[in-house]
Amino acid sequence: MEELKNRVEQCTKCPLHKSRNKVVFGNGNYQASVFLIGEGPGYEEDKAGEAFVGRSGKLLDKILLACNFTREAHVFIGNIVKCRPPGNRTPYPEEMEACLPYLEEQIEKVDPAIIITLGATALKGLTGENLKVTRERGKWRLWFNRMLMPTYHPSALLRNPSLKRDAWEDFKKVILKYREIIDQNHPCQYI
Ligand code: URA
Repeated sequence: MEELKNRVEQCTKCPLHKSRNKVVFGNGNYQASVFLIGEGPGYEEDKAGEAFVGRSGKLLDKILLACNFTREAHVFIGNIVKCRPPGNRTPYPEEMEACLPYLEEQIEKVDPAIIITLGATALKGLTGENLKVTRERGKWRLWFNRMLMPTYHPSALLRNPSLKRDAWEDFKKVILKYREIIDQNHPCQYI
């Protein structure tokens, strides 16, 4: 993984490398059973070189805490693109295409049983299909032998708090699946 990280940190495959401060490789446990995928670094992430450390990240941490998942033990958090799109715009298809092999390598190395895509860009970017999160969220899909749960991006939950209820339903399904296939004794006070 360190070798892959070095390669990603030196990447110049798409124009996003020109405006980046730091590459955001992703963070968490390299042997995690749960792999979360966001869109791309924002201002704070680009500054820190760490995934989900801004406002969305704080909300994501609350959700993970409610699931009794920690970044250190249970999850790895990555993004569709590893460099910040200027002004936090959605990454262009050619930027996602250039970066996708890195994500695929990360997934292969971490070898998670469960993948969670956060938002439309992650869902579309990973599957290559033009899917709608509002339609697909909460429904398990199979992605190359791994269980994939699409849900909302935390920034959507910040913009529209009424979506939080649905997002929590999605994460509850993840906890149940985690108990089913990873650890039947995984504690969670809510479920
Ligand atoms: N939003 C994302 O999609 N990814 C991050 O790493 C931070 C915010």
